[in-house]
Amino acid sequence: DLYMERHRAQYHFSPKRGWLNDPNGLVYYKGEYHLFFQHNPYGLRWGNMHWGHAVSTDLVHWKELDIALYPDERGTMFSGSAIVDTHNSSGLGTIDDPPLLLFYTCAEGTWEQGIAYSLDGRTFTKLPGVAMPSIVPGNRDPKVIWHEASQKWVMTLYVTEADEQHAIYFFQSDNLLNWRQVSIVNGGIGEDRYLYECPELYELPLGADSSNIKWVLSAVNGVYAIGDFDGTTFYPLYERIQGNHGRGYYAAQLFNNDPKGRRIEMGWRHTHTDLDGMTFNQSMSLPMSLSLQQRGAKFVVTRTPVQELESLRTKKYDCRRDTFDSLSINPLLDLQPRLLEIDMVLQPSPKSSFLMKMNGIEINYDVYTGRFEVDDVVNTIPLQDGLLKLRLFLDRVGIEIFAQDGEFYIPINKNTNSSTPQYAFHVSSEEMACLKFDVYELSAIW
Ligand code: FRU
Repeated sequence: DLYMERHRAQYHFSPKRGWLNDPNGLVYYKGEYHLFFQHNPYGLRWGNMHWGHAVSTDLVHWKELDIALYPDERGTMFSGSAIVDTHNSSGLGTIDDPPLLLFYTCAEGTWEQGIAYSLDGRTFTKLPGVAMPSIVPGNRDPKVIWHEASQKWVMTLYVTEADEQHAIYFFQSDNLLNWRQVSIVNGGIGEDRYLYECPELYELPLGADSSNIKWVLSAVNGVYAIGDFDGTTFYPLYERIQGNHGRGYYAAQLFNNDPKGRRIEMGWRHTHTDLDGMTFNQSMSLPMSLSLQQRGAKFVVTRTPVQELESLRTKKYDCRRDTFDSLSINPLLDLQPRLLEIDMVLQPSPKSSFLMKMNGIEINYDVYTGRFEVDDVVNTIPLQDGLLKLRLFLDRVGIEIFAQDGEFYIPINKNTNSSTPQYAFHVSSEEMACLKFDVYELSAIW
């Protein structure tokens, strides 16, 4: 049955059939979150790009709708974004009934940016007469935001300049239909793809200090810069910050217009489900709320799974003991469910280490070196105030690990639904005090 297939993610979005890559047009409009996505409805591999479409009222339960954008004589439909034109700057709706606008790339010939609009979030009308500035073939992935301070619409666009110079071009507009170029940020040359496809630009307050606002400029690989932005120019303060600690996480985008004002990110997880007769491939990440935190002299963007995900918790198991050591009985021994969230806080002695087994995915942590290894992905994660804080989400396509209050987001893609469920937590050498070890069984969203 649809959505019951053996390797189908049970609480991550994947298409009914065919291929999915980048999230596109993430936006909240008239009571619904919209998730558009790069979609090949005819095959399990990349190609024939359409914009698929799904909606949700809670960011968790998604309902796939009809395809929103089909290829046309200007090309296939590459990635882009969506905004709610609240001021009716475009004149395509009214203030009382604001239009939803989609910006996408027509991937053929000179490569132009296209616009489509909708008044119901269901049917989309392309504007054939309106073209965005055309720069060089290959320019793509328009991301549009409203810049409150300058009262302008701002677009970032990825461009490959001569000699493989990667660049993010900035544009400005009053009416969303005519755009002028205002600045450029260089993003590496050739194989150095620091700022590459799918640019993102957003503001975040520093911690809880709403008066101290910084801007983040990032792109497809998750590497980012923190700086200031005045509506035309981005002034970097910190550059090349590593934001990607896992495997196969790509092309993340933020939702425009969240009613709670959060910065919510979702990205493409490169999960492989083109096996055992599955007729769909790839999936999205969990929706995550971003914030900017200070860590020593550095600033980092942290990720927290959105609170709405707590609605998936069905049963809770308390696996905590005051301390674990090498003689402790595996506290996860009797676990059967395959969809799990684990929320744990450990207070380890300096020479301890642990091994955790999650349905074929192994996590090894060594306190002394800080070496945190999941599958073949290695990070160095120091204790924070003597603690290791972890949240883990296990689904059929792998695991997402949030460490140290979301400073490290480690998605690992691996199909976990092939063998008998097997979970373990073993401590070696010195003991570990445990402050929290909550295990939740999760329900499916379909
Ligand atoms: C990123 C990307 C985008 C492009 C889209 C095409 O994964 O290459 O630059 O618009 O995918 O599917």
